[in-house]
Amino acid sequence: MTSTPVQVWIDGRLVTTDAAKLSHLTHTFHYGLGAFEGIRSYAQADGTSAVFRLREHIERLFASCHLVTISRKEIDLSVDQVMAACIDTLRANDLAEGYIRPVIYLGAGAMGIGALTNPVHTMVAAWEWGAYLGAESLEHGIDACVSSFRRAEHSSTLSKGKLTGQYINSILAKREAIRNGYAEAILLNSQGFVTEASGENLFMICDGELITPPLGMNILAGITRATVMELAREQNISVAERRFARDELYLADEVFLTGTAAEVSPVRSIDGRTIGSGTRGPITTSLQKRYFDVVKGNEGEHSHWRSSYTV
Ligand SMILES: Cc1ncc(COP(=O)(O)O)c(C=O)c1O
Repeated sequence: MTSTPVQVWIDGRLVTTDAAKLSHLTHTFHYGLGAFEGIRSYAQADGTSAVFRLREHIERLFASCHLVTISRKEIDLSVDQVMAACIDTLRANDLAEGYIRPVIYLGAGAMGIGALTNPVHTMVAAWEWGAYLGAESLEHGIDACVSSFRRAEHSSTLSKGKLTGQYINSILAKREAIRNGYAEAILLNSQGFVTEASGENLFMICDGELITPPLGMNILAGITRATVMELAREQNISVAERRFARDELYLADEVFLTGTAAEVSPVRSIDGRTIGSGTRGPITTSLQKRYFDVVKGNEGEHSHWRSSYTV
């Protein structure tokens, strides 16, 4: 479920979406050089609200800009200022829970591809967003496929950046999956190793061990991925980062996807092959519960991951 934001934050000011004009000559609109984040806030057990791992998301936003040579000087905002902008946007839209979308982009100016001197803008929007892959899927799992599209290689892309134009690859994979009756696409690299899904990192469980592709592969360094790995280790689940191909995935006891939007989403089948028992498995269930307890502040632990606010 999505709802249109009423106000967006642009370069230091909250403006109504109707008044927020974007030039048709915005460079990023034409060519896709920009960086963005997807962040969630959750209503907390104590009646307040909290944004989950806000600092890490904004630090990754700035790192993405660094990768594509949008400098700190051009952004002209600190990490703390963009964090505050996220919270201001949630409050302005009366969102006790919501999805937050900051974007740093090149504005209008030169229309050549290099555009080294175009102005750099920062925008933050926020809206209500329920379970990304559907509420049912969190309990019963999704049907996924291995995509015909490959995740772009290190030699031609910067996969550690959450970069606007880079998502064409993900969109093509996702559209193909949906049109073929699947909820999500899993992308291999050019050598046939599993990388991640169109907007999520991927984990499999084999003989009680949690296994995920290593950061040295062409995957995004997901913040939910890091969170789940830490929570797993706290539960004494052994965690391994290693390469594997699709055959190991088909034979896994459990598979799940992680992402800020998708949270911890079980996968019940891949390319028509049932995974494990064909529903959310026991380790996935336990890690998913722990994840929701942490993001919702049901327990006091990991409070440094939650930036509190009230609406
Ligand atoms: C390609 C891709 N991989 C992984 C993720 C998961 O990242 P995170 O857990 O930081 O949201 C996302 C979502 O941002 C993504 O777009």
